Amino acid sequence: KRIVVLISGSGSNLQAIIDSIAAGSIAGRIAAVISNRADAYGLTRASNAGIDTQVMDHKQYPDRAAFDNALQETIDGYQPDLVVLAGFMRILTPDFVRHYAGRLFNIHPSLLPLHKGLHTHQRALEAGDPEHGCTVHFVTEELDGGPLVVQAPIPVLPGDDAESLQQRVHILEHKIYPLAVAWFCAGRLELTATGVLFDGTPL
Ligand code: GRF
Repeated sequence: KRIVVLISGSGSNLQAIIDSIAAGSIAGRIAAVISNRADAYGLTRASNAGIDTQVMDHKQYPDRAAFDNALQETIDGYQPDLVVLAGFMRILTPDFVRHYAGRLFNIHPSLLPLHKGLHTHQRALEAGDPEHGCTVHFVTEELDGGPLVVQAPIPVLPGDDAESLQQRVHILEHKIYPLAVAWFCAGRLELTATGVLFDGTPL
């Protein structure tokens, strides 16, 4: 399977997927890594792994629709089976999301549907949540609202702050994102009108 990964930053989740492919755990290859920021460290990670990189600066486009159109054209040049959002900090237009329906993943640092959007670790603390974690989901038009694929919880411990939670959640992100990608590439995950099927069974 052919995978395109979109990033905006460090790319530690990208690295986890690169490592998992190198270990033979994912039946796929990353055709390209695309960043909207030229200074994203994930571009270096991609280059180090011999992966094609592209920078597409959203500020060079008049509006969101123009950027998303250009982005879609670039992605489709690689004919991906799966598009992976890995810390890509742009909201995508409904047209873009619909175009990749059933083959667009995101990872979010909360136990969705809790804490959509930003500052999830701080918000989990302020809400007094006993547990926090991360979620891989199919992307739909609703921000951080698509059908869940896999979720990993951690307990919130006395003395935790946003930083310590972020660190522990990040470690789990690096486990569940490659797992979800592996399942998809093995043909075990399917998004249908009624929800996600895993090995043909509703999740
Ligand atoms: C992760 O926390 C992810 O959940 C969020 O953005 C961050 C990306 O981290 N969507 P990295 O660039 O993969 O290190």
